Amino acid sequence: MRKSLFVTAAIFALIAISLSFTTAADEPLYKNLKVLPKKITKPELDSVMRHFTRALGVRCNYCHVQVQGQRELNFASDDEEMKGEARVMMKMQNKINKKFFNIKHADQMGTKLEVTCYSCHHGASKPARTAPPQGQQGPPQGPPPGQQPGGGNPPRQQQ
Ligand code: HEC
Ligand code: HEC
Repeated sequence: MRKSLFVTAAIFALIAISLSFTTAADEPLYKNLKVLPKKITKPELDSVMRHFTRALGVRCNYCHVQVQGQRELNFASDDEEMKGEARVMMKMQNKINKKFFNIKHADQMGTKLEVTCYSCHHGASKPARTAPPQGQQGPPQGPPPGQQPGGGNPPRQQQ
């Protein structure tokens, strides 16, 4: 009788331990993703975030708030308004790509036609609304700044 009680207790303990392991493994890496896939890997997320900073010519703290009294940023927090703006942009971009750039022919040619943050932003947080005056250089085309010295938008014109 005593022995079977011990065995039952041991089995329960084992179940509890294995459960705690499965929840740890299933726990998502990121706490507050509303647009990106919840199971995104760290390298994938890092690459998206790096694209954001380079496409807009900003740093991480443009969209992520700082923990009070500390140097690090609180990436899961939604307190920075620009993070919300960025989510709206991501949804807009997904819609544009799904509806207008889902071109099978392009896939067959091995090219991917799609709009990215950089297509509009060109290294500026607010894309220029007007074309530059005649004779002045427009936004650079081609690879983003960094790969091409002197890239980025010219200063935005006052309207
Ligand atoms: C233009 C705005 C913007 C910039 C700049 C930006 N992020 Fe983000 N970041 C977001 C948004 C929006 C989300 C949430 C995405 C979602 O809801 O799917 C996010 C989510 C994250 C998360 C996941 C947090 C969680 O637990 O949910 C991490 C980590 C992160 N960013 C790191 C960075 C790092 C590091 C940088 C700088 C290299 C950076 N971000 C720059 C907008 C930005
Ligand atoms: C189709 C063009 C287009 C695309 C694609 C696009 N944006 Fe934007 N974005 C804009 C325009 C236009 C504004 C408004 C600028 C203004 O207020 O003058 C803007 C504004 C923003 C702002 C607010 C900037 C501020 O200082 O008020 C953020 C943040 C932003 N975009 C992030 C992104 C991110 C991140 C992506 C990629 C997921 C993206 N955008 C893709 C056109 C675009």
